[in-house]
Amino acid sequence: MSTRQSSDMVKFREALKSAKNVVILSGAGMSAESGIPTFRGAGGYWRKYQSSSLATPEAFKSNPSLVWEFYHYRREVAAKAKPNPGHIAIAEYEKRHASDKNITVITQNVDGLHAKAGTKNLLELHGCLYKTRCTKCREVLDNTDIPICEALSNRGAPDVNIVGSDIPVKSLPHCVKPGCGGLLRPHIVWFGENLEKAVLDKAVVGTSSVVYPAAMFAPQAAARGSIVAEFNLEPTPATSDFQYYFEGPCGEMLPQVLAD
Ligand SMILES: NC(=O)c1ccc[n+]([C@@H]2O[C@H](COP(=O)([O-])OP(=O)(O)OC[C@H]3O[C@@H](n4cnc5c(N)ncnc54)[C@H](O)[C@@H]3O)[C@@H](O)[C@H]2O)c1
Ligand SMILES: [Zn+2]
Repeated sequence: MSTRQSSDMVKFREALKSAKNVVILSGAGMSAESGIPTFRGAGGYWRKYQSSSLATPEAFKSNPSLVWEFYHYRREVAAKAKPNPGHIAIAEYEKRHASDKNITVITQNVDGLHAKAGTKNLLELHGCLYKTRCTKCREVLDNTDIPICEALSNRGAPDVNIVGSDIPVKSLPHCVKPGCGGLLRPHIVWFGENLEKAVLDKAVVGTSSVVYPAAMFAPQAAARGSIVAEFNLEPTPATSDFQYYFEGPCGEMLPQVLAD
């Protein structure tokens, strides 16, 4: 911890009280206590694959059946998951301060749990498990069907012994727009892809229109003089950039910090 850094919760709550603009940026750790694994550590595997290796355009191109099975599984897991006390504390904080603060929640998560908890002013930076995008006409649609197509029913089991994925491409989800019929993909920003410009424009923190990836939001905000607090189980490479660092599960820390 750097000498300028503090984990004084009373002091941070005072600073929060006088803030007019509050941005809450969440990542996969936010949903860990809801039973949705992060891509790091032991939970980051599905079958024998590292989850992050399936969340790529290359994986979808070479094996759309496998990637759809993986996403079908993730849609099922997230549909059953409940927002944890951290998501709920954020949603209640937003509601309580609807008339005296501008509160924006920017999430890298695709599980829909912030919305389920009731957060309204939400930017889903990396898309959503329950949206599809046509690879041909690019149309984006909401889709909460489970399974999303008949061929995926009873598929997607995470068991490490399952090998191969043999659903013919024609049986995977397809665009129903007349004259299109393109293969649908999850509307998710995969590793190696760019964030959507429209979402990014809204998400840029501060006054500059400089475009930077999600990992830079908080350090940039801190560099511009905003007060930034990080909540994590362990320090990250960015921790030393921030004025406050609170160590612990966010389902326990956020209800304390956002109590008033
Ligand atoms: N729930 C989801 O929607 C979900 C899950 C996995 C991955 N993803 C996607 O993949 C990208 C990369 O995933 P990643 O797993 O590398 O994310 P990440 O970079 O956000 O890493 C997870 C972080 O959460 C911290 N963490 C874990 N449990 C925590 C807890 N209970 N309280 C506080 N902090 C906790 C870890 O220490 C780690 O620093 C994400 O940005 C997201 O787009 C989404
Ligand atoms: Zn289409």
